[in-house]
Amino acid sequence: MKIAVASDHGGFALKEKVKEHLMQRGFEVEDLGTHSEDSVDYPAYGKACGEAVASGKADLGVVVCGTGIGISIAANKVKGIRCGLCTSVEMAHLAKQHNNANILALGGRTTEPDLALKIVDEWLDTEFEGGRHQRRVDMLDQM
Ligand code: RB5
Repeated sequence: MKIAVASDHGGFALKEKVKEHLMQRGFEVEDLGTHSEDSVDYPAYGKACGEAVASGKADLGVVVCGTGIGISIAANKVKGIRCGLCTSVEMAHLAKQHNNANILALGGRTTEPDLALKIVDEWLDTEFEGGRHQRRVDMLDQM
């Protein structure tokens, strides 16, 4: 399982923590940047992660900006991406169980690192429920 991670400067510190955590859990991680706290534009990084997942180069992705809002909007512009911005463990559970989110978005300036890693784990460890949710996910993928 390969997970692509990407952030802007506002998400850089949390992206580094998430990357370390994923590697400790045994996942292969592809870091699409950014690589410092120098100011960059989040749309480029959300797009890069979205394209990595949509093309199959990565199985899943995690994107981080200051709030998680801008970079999740960017990732969701890529066809086939279902990126969910999660601020709680419950949202992470439902993002996978109901929406089969293939990218998780986090806010580096709005979510404490300990909680963020719990959110990552819940999203990774939850199964998509399918059933009525499959029809809705299929509708999303056709947009
Ligand atoms: C960058 O200052 C900030 O706007 C960005 O990280 C993010 O929060 C945008 O949604």
